[in-house]
Amino acid sequence: MRITRPAAHARVPLDQIDLTDTGLYVNGDAHLVWQTLRAERPVFWQDRGNGDGFWAVTRRADVHRVLSDHETFSSEGGTAISMLDAPDPAAGLMMQSTDPPRHRKYREQVGRPFSARAVPAYTDFVRSFVKESIEPARDGEVWDVASSFVRLPMALCAMMMGLPEDDIDPLLRLAYASLAPDDPRYSTHGSTKPTAGSAHYEIMGYFAKCIWDRRRNPTDDLTSYLMSIEIAGRRLTDEELLYNCLSLLLGAVVTTSHVVSATIIVLAEEHGGEGFWPDAMRAQAAVEEALRWASPVTHFMRRARHDTTIAGQKIAAGEAVTAWIASANRDESTFERPYSLDLERTPNRHIVFGTGPHTCLGSHLARLMLRTSFEELCAAIESFELADKPVHLASNEIAGVVSLRLRTKFRP
Ligand code: HEM
Repeated sequence: MRITRPAAHARVPLDQIDLTDTGLYVNGDAHLVWQTLRAERPVFWQDRGNGDGFWAVTRRADVHRVLSDHETFSSEGGTAISMLDAPDPAAGLMMQSTDPPRHRKYREQVGRPFSARAVPAYTDFVRSFVKESIEPARDGEVWDVASSFVRLPMALCAMMMGLPEDDIDPLLRLAYASLAPDDPRYSTHGSTKPTAGSAHYEIMGYFAKCIWDRRRNPTDDLTSYLMSIEIAGRRLTDEELLYNCLSLLLGAVVTTSHVVSATIIVLAEEHGGEGFWPDAMRAQAAVEEALRWASPVTHFMRRARHDTTIAGQKIAAGEAVTAWIASANRDESTFERPYSLDLERTPNRHIVFGTGPHTCLGSHLARLMLRTSFEELCAAIESFELADKPVHLASNEIAGVVSLRLRTKFRP
């Protein structure tokens, strides 16, 4: 997604806003749209032109409430605007599409390998993958940092789940086809629905085979672990296993690398296209600010369980409410100078990983990957220059960069 810095009083006409349009995130100015909504219509009805629509909340306080108040807002009626048109087949079967109290039971079990205590064990793997990813830049040619780093989360996920290295690239492609089906690089059927649907189907088919293999030859990876856990006194059914493997794969692979790309772009923009790594980049505060800046997940969605109000606006039972996290992370009532990258920002009350019961399961992993990436990039590269205009992912869900070609100068 293009990350812009709209002037404080700039606005767009409300009747021109279409939050579903993927073009808005590639060539348009989504930050200007969200700034307008925060100021003029913080609970906005997005008409889809078919007699249907959804609510969009853009202020941090409202986004926080929608994501955390699970008694009012359910995750079982679709969690993104791409899921508006049909019931969610994974409701109650996949952790992310399940409400408490059952969700809590999932989380206790599935969360163990992702805890703050468990994640440091992956540091060496991440560091050596990052070092290898930087290596091609040494030959002096133009280096596409977005293509190199997009493989890191997928490689880590494959290692944890015990998937062969040869499957990294095909799975990565399927994950993007599933979450960014409008993007011309991933669209396989010329239209959104078949692309996303068949990608889901292929990923689940892939995991069906993994599970079948492990039934015959148990292993000690995350896939076998999921097969062994018990929730409410029984093991997961095949359907539950497949949906949760799909959710882990999609959650893990399409977000983290875009934080690295978005940070490089802003550091270059601040210096007329040529950037360098400030010393502050190695600190945790900088990782948090890079996360806020990039906000790689634009929104999540909920359904109102009963009639309610948000900031005085009536919401009817069953209506869809989207919570725009990327807008909340620029809310001027929470963040001073929201459109400045301040690597020492404290406190930094971003909600990039969501909040409430579904707060990102992979936040410790994402932080590990980002901290290590910035450490190694700072250690190896003295300065960089944009060789081309960055190419952005066509998605209303993931704020992504698909190509970021750089000329780099290595440290002596
Ligand atoms: C910078 C990187 C990441 C961002 C910005 C991010 C963002 C989010 C957000 C906002 C949610 C909340 C969803 C909701 O409220 O419905 C979430 C949930 C989730 N994330 Fe992440 N995520 C990232 C990385 C990861 C990684 C590396 C994993 C790997 C396991 C992961 C796995 C998940 C899962 C499984 C959930 C569902 C949790 C639940 O329903 O309890 N994410 N993520």
